[in-house]
Amino acid sequence: MKKKLWSGRFSESTNKLVEEFTASISFDWKLYKYDIAGSIAHARMLAKTGIIKKAEADKIVNGLKAIEKEIDANKFKFYVEDEDIHMAVEKRLISLIGGTGKKLHTARSRNDQVALDARLYLRDEIKNIISLIEKFQKTLVLLAKKNIDVIMPGYTHLQQAQPILFAYYLLAYYDMFKRDRERLLDCHKRTNIMPLGSGALAGTTFPIDREYAAKLLGFDGITKNSLDAVSDRDFIIEFLSAASIIIMHLSRISEELIIWSSSEFGFIELPDAFCTGSSMMPQKKNPDVPELVRGKTGRIYGHLISLLTTMKGLPLAYNKDMQEDKEPLFDTVDTLKTALDIFSGMIKGVKINTERIKSSMADGLILSTDVADYLVQKGISFRDAHEIVGRVVSYCVKGKRPLTALTLSEWKMFSPIFKDDIINFVSLKKAVERRNHIGGTAKKQVLKRIREIEAGD
Ligand code: ARG
Repeated sequence: MKKKLWSGRFSESTNKLVEEFTASISFDWKLYKYDIAGSIAHARMLAKTGIIKKAEADKIVNGLKAIEKEIDANKFKFYVEDEDIHMAVEKRLISLIGGTGKKLHTARSRNDQVALDARLYLRDEIKNIISLIEKFQKTLVLLAKKNIDVIMPGYTHLQQAQPILFAYYLLAYYDMFKRDRERLLDCHKRTNIMPLGSGALAGTTFPIDREYAAKLLGFDGITKNSLDAVSDRDFIIEFLSAASIIIMHLSRISEELIIWSSSEFGFIELPDAFCTGSSMMPQKKNPDVPELVRGKTGRIYGHLISLLTTMKGLPLAYNKDMQEDKEPLFDTVDTLKTALDIFSGMIKGVKINTERIKSSMADGLILSTDVADYLVQKGISFRDAHEIVGRVVSYCVKGKRPLTALTLSEWKMFSPIFKDDIINFVSLKKAVERRNHIGGTAKKQVLKRIREIEAGD
């Protein structure tokens, strides 16, 4: 029997199945760098406060650094008997440096240790994800600038609604991802608070210096109630919520890329390097990447619901249920990082088929709102104008006449208010340019927004 670090009170060794069932080492080994960084800070704090000797802390720190190198180099063996990363590292420390290693866990519990590790890990990953979002946003802006004059149909209900600039469409996502970054930064604020020193649940009887440890680890603050600090995982839940919103945004663009690259739309072409073929149908070029990102959305939502559910009935403080927080967290981080990274590459290579986009609006009916607005400007109430234009639309549809091809005498059949200026009025370009206010689709506004973005917004 391999002796466990907590075996003192037990007279039987752990059932093999139970050992495997309760272990988290198969996934929490990922935390090793953070576990070791936390332990180094803890050892230094123990020495500073005189709880252990400086020479002992040095020995511990050197041992921990050696262990980190072993794991980095893939030379560290993880055993299921060690249960989790915390015990695996501690046990190795004791075998490396002997009895002094046994002092590391003074004034600490795995309960504050695991909360610490999770916060250290997440604060790093939040920063990584923010950088990936920024990179993706840059590609959106790049594509917008490259196609600044392309006019496309804007949709509601996936029915053509009003013309917009393609660049404007892309910048809509820019703003969504900007809020996503803000949400992550906000979550980072609450994540970057140090729980170390909470002990198992009530603090510790030793004269610890938590502020010192927090400074060593670069935390912005320390938790104010140990029971809370070891009990809650709300910082992870907050992250999973923010992640769910991010992947939802990615999923919506995915949907559009899929539809628009279909033969029916043909608005865009995805780069070959980001598509796959069919094993049977030679003509196929499948948008697997956006499809998979759309598909992975369910999995991240699932992780959020999974952890919310895990936490909902737990009495304070730590319960083993909480070990279930890690896999959803790790998988969300990995999935999101890959999705964002691959999207940056893919968006860069999207080709726009301007002719197809233009011909999709050939019937001119997308200008109907503008025609109603024209009548309103000439003194007709909006409701009456709406009715009149409705009849114009019906005429065009029945006679297969593009709205933009109607003659002045045809316009006059519907209202004497129409004057010859209506002929030039019904233009996609002009319709876009008319929406010239903050938030509108006019090129002037879009260019202004790009300038704002490039200045750091
Ligand atoms: N592996 C555990 C987890 O991930 C670490 C904390 C264990 N604490 C305990 N008292 N058993 O939650």
